Amino acid sequence: MGRFNYAVTMSKIHSIVVLTGSGISAESGLKTFRDNNGLWEDHAVEEVATPEAFAANPELVHRFYNQRRQQLLSSELHPNNAHIALAEFQKTYVGKLSIITQNVDNLHERAGSSNVIHMHGELQKIVCTRSGKRFDCQTSIDTKTQCQCCGIQGTLRPDIVWFGEIPKSMDLIESLLAGCDLFISIGTSGTVYPAAGFKQVASSFGAKTVELNLEAASRYTGFDESHYGLAGKIVPQYFDNLKKAIDQD
Ligand code: APR
Repeated sequence: MGRFNYAVTMSKIHSIVVLTGSGISAESGLKTFRDNNGLWEDHAVEEVATPEAFAANPELVHRFYNQRRQQLLSSELHPNNAHIALAEFQKTYVGKLSIITQNVDNLHERAGSSNVIHMHGELQKIVCTRSGKRFDCQTSIDTKTQCQCCGIQGTLRPDIVWFGEIPKSMDLIESLLAGCDLFISIGTSGTVYPAAGFKQVASSFGAKTVELNLEAASRYTGFDESHYGLAGKIVPQYFDNLKKAIDQD
């Protein structure tokens, strides 16, 4: 791990915001978005992740998300050491640690993390387009699935934020970014806004910014501190060092 430096003394770090992207789940076996030539499980984004795609071909979109939901339920899929290290640190940290994730998997929660904000939605939730009600979903749905609230078919969709839609909890996210002393970005290429702009917002309010990623991303730069490598290795190292710095302060 590169130089671990703390300009701010740890006692001044009361609030930490962690932003995660698909890179933190890569070693659990879930594909990232841009490593696969931008294809999402071999589908172009426009085919499966826009409201227009759902209107044009709801069965294809349902199939796409049903497959990804089933993947989450596979006995082969587990949180990796990065999810676990973050969850363990969060449990021992006396300040406030919020996790804003772009991921729609449930690996942070399965690792024991709390206070997880899924700004792009969750694979294991569905929403009724008629009532707006959300339901947990561990199975597959399609246009013939009867809605639990309306009792009719064809109203359900994945509770996923598609391109062109507004991410969830943005007011809460903005207040967390304005109030944090430390902003840590893990496993994201910083390609998609608004998440790509969170580092700048936190920094403009005086937060120290740290990047933990496999490699430097061309347009996601300017962090106070960066560490590169597999999340399963550098995330535990980072939080181990952070805990030591806090304990020594
Ligand atoms: N450890 C750490 N980082 C990794 C690993 C790993 N094992 N594997 C890949 N990465 C890094 C890549 O280098 C890249 O910078 O994770 C990042 C993944 O970037 P993307 O594929 O662009 O995914 P992400 O940043 O999460 O995309 C953000 O874009 O497509 C939309 O809604 C989708 O939530 C997604 C958003």
